[in-house]
Amino acid sequence: MPKKPDQNPIWGQVHIPRRYYSNWAATLSKFARAPRHLPRPKAELSDLELVAALIPDLRADLVQLWEAFTTERAEVARYLMDPKKEALVYLLGFHLANQARTLGVLERVENRSGLLSFLAEADSLRLVDLGAGTAALSQITAGELLQQRSQLALAIELVDKNQAFLDVAIHGHKGLLGEEQEIVTRRQKLDEYLSRELTQGPIAGPVWYQLGYVWNEIVANPRTTQLLLRYLAAGLQQGRRIITLVEPANQDLARGAMELREELLQMGYRVLYPCPHSESCPMLERSRDWCYSEFAWERPPLMRTIDRLLEIDRQRIGCSAYLFVSPDLEQNLLVRRPGTSQEIVVGRPLLPRGRDPRRDFDYLLCSPDGLGKKKPESGPELLRGQTWSKPTTGARKGSTSSAKQEPSSEPGEGKQGPTQAKGSRQAKSHPKTQSTGKGSGQTQTRSKSSKQKRPKQKPSPSR
Ligand SMILES: C[S@@+](CC[C@H](N)C(=O)[O-])C[C@H]1O[C@@H](n2cnc3c(N)ncnc32)[C@H](O)[C@@H]1O
Repeated sequence: MPKKPDQNPIWGQVHIPRRYYSNWAATLSKFARAPRHLPRPKAELSDLELVAALIPDLRADLVQLWEAFTTERAEVARYLMDPKKEALVYLLGFHLANQARTLGVLERVENRSGLLSFLAEADSLRLVDLGAGTAALSQITAGELLQQRSQLALAIELVDKNQAFLDVAIHGHKGLLGEEQEIVTRRQKLDEYLSRELTQGPIAGPVWYQLGYVWNEIVANPRTTQLLLRYLAAGLQQGRRIITLVEPANQDLARGAMELREELLQMGYRVLYPCPHSESCPMLERSRDWCYSEFAWERPPLMRTIDRLLEIDRQRIGCSAYLFVSPDLEQNLLVRRPGTSQEIVVGRPLLPRGRDPRRDFDYLLCSPDGLGKKKPESGPELLRGQTWSKPTTGARKGSTSSAKQEPSSEPGEGKQGPTQAKGSRQAKSHPKTQSTGKGSGQTQTRSKSSKQKRPKQKPSPSR
């Protein structure tokens, strides 16, 4: 991944490379029933054309799952009550957006610390995707690591209680990384899996834990959460541990992620993203504040179609996202790239008599010295999770995305199988806390406490 500033004139758009988009379509084509209305005989259609034909058939299920994840989160355990359909619809509606979020985080992390390029130099690395779902996080992480160095030997372990999700996840991984890729699937409840792993003890070598949208599903179960924390602590003793945590961006769940951050830091982990320090979070002190990340997403064409159906707009996507490492890794990264003091955008509070949230705001910045505000100056808008740099000419030039601007026109193109990754695989409280101002944690999508109106945006930005 080339080193670039993580701001650009169009906010550092995240662009999903073609290999992930094609692989998504190939996986959907494999698991979906033939669409009712096809524009041409099936054999003549590309995977993307098949998916385009499939979307209207699945609209009602998509809306139902979207509602479950946003407005009726308490009911989320029920999903669609049909595991196969649930996995398929999740893949259709959420997988690529979760990949875009993960990619956005990895790009910012790489730009700041060089984590991926450092890890790719290892002989081998284990990815453990806990509550894997369709494996959005581990697929992007694997794909991006292999972009750094295709010889890196990856061992992938996917854990989920739902076999239908695992079937989809493994197909997607193999499509992306090749049939020879070692993948272990565990259809188990996390507490069973974690108990056994704790009995066996932590394995040696680098391990990257992926926790995508699962913490909020287990947080009400003290046994599972305690086991998870013990498991992560045990890994810490071995060193060379990395954790990606992604959670919804809305107030309650984002604050849940902030609390988990505190636990992990007390345990001994260090945070590489988004925070500029590994001290207690100054935003946690004020119940009305919450921290999350934003990304501008250059949606692939079929995602725009899905967004139109759902009457949402995911040009801008949010999530609570964190990346933690064990202290040995932080030290290694600091030696390679000595840390510079950073200020991170964590809010855009409305000015006291401000009316237009797009214009009348300050940037709320988090730095090693605490929270502070700065006036926006000329140049592109900065998003939560991006670094602040004085907007001198060119300071925000360059692209965040590691991805080349690949064409994403379809349907109508030739039939494609999943593409391969390159290479042999065929690819304590903070001292200077300031008042953040009401609503400093708001934007992105309407949350229940937000009064800002945004066009065509569903409540609660959990996805
Ligand atoms: C919202 S999905 C997230 C999937 C994926 N990690 C992502 O980020 O897109 C949550 C997943 O966690 C799984 N899950 C939830 N609770 C679990 C538990 N106690 N044990 C195993 N899997 C669990 C669900 O089956 C589901 O696949």
